[in-house]
Amino acid sequence: MDKLAILTGNANLELARNICKHLKVKLSDAFVSKFSEGEIRVKINENVRGKDVFVIQPTCPPVNENLMELLIILDALKRSSAQRITAVIPYFGYARQDRKDQPRVPITAKLVANLLTVAGANRILTIDLHAGQIQGFFDIPLDHLFAVTVFNDYLAEKKMKDLVVVSPDVGSIKMARAYAKRFSAGLAIIDKRRLSPEKAEAVHILGEVEGKNAIIVDDLIATGGSLVEAAKALKKAGAKTIVAAITHGVLSGPAMDNIDKCDVLQKLLITDTIPQPEEKQHSRIEVLSVAGLLAEAIKRIHHEESVSSLFD
Ligand code: R5P
Repeated sequence: MDKLAILTGNANLELARNICKHLKVKLSDAFVSKFSEGEIRVKINENVRGKDVFVIQPTCPPVNENLMELLIILDALKRSSAQRITAVIPYFGYARQDRKDQPRVPITAKLVANLLTVAGANRILTIDLHAGQIQGFFDIPLDHLFAVTVFNDYLAEKKMKDLVVVSPDVGSIKMARAYAKRFSAGLAIIDKRRLSPEKAEAVHILGEVEGKNAIIVDDLIATGGSLVEAAKALKKAGAKTIVAAITHGVLSGPAMDNIDKCDVLQKLLITDTIPQPEEKQHSRIEVLSVAGLLAEAIKRIHHEESVSSLFD
């Protein structure tokens, strides 16, 4: 693997280091810092000419800083004659504005896809996009991984019975169906209405949840409003236990307070696509690592092997 190089910005250093541990390669030396006025300053400190380079950088908060760092690193790599550049974006931010659902709104996910490509990305590797269709915003290859394997290993160990997988809204039905298939569980859907970007309301539950152990699955948790509403509705409908498996722990705004108050939720499983500072740790939140999954995908891409067979 001497043609392989792994680089990172400052978005999730620990994840980048753990991926390198799995791959048994050292993290390439790059200086990613700022000029005194705040502009991002990058220098790749080793030769990457002819290398197959993977840049690990989720576009998580601070979103604009992390995105800009990624774009500038990609530009530096392109100008350093890397042979192929893969932007590994474990959490792809700016994904929620993915269509023109109101007059005079942008399609920010498409804009970000364009920016990444122009900056120099030849491929994208990501996990649980907010909407699968975002793949089509890129005219370069994109490998889409699913955290279901990581949650599956954890939940299989717990040997939970009478499971029902719950989609907290219509947007996550496809994801919930995939989990239900993998766990041989039932499927339920919450009819959620979004009252504002920060406020959601669970109106109905479609499916059988009474006496069941419910697993709420979603791509991301931001304020936690959707999760809390779903958990409360499930409890009211007679679910026995309620846990959540949510890939990206954005945990913004009142999220920690919402989770703290939601004592009907036994456990919230998230992954380390986004680093969690100390103030976002909670006895009911458990973080599972996607480092092994990403390392395996990187190895396969590097060796031109199938990535989809990872999920067979
Ligand atoms: C919605 O489409 C997403 O899948 C999440 O359910 C939502 O964005 C979570 O946001 P919040 O935690 O603020 O309710």
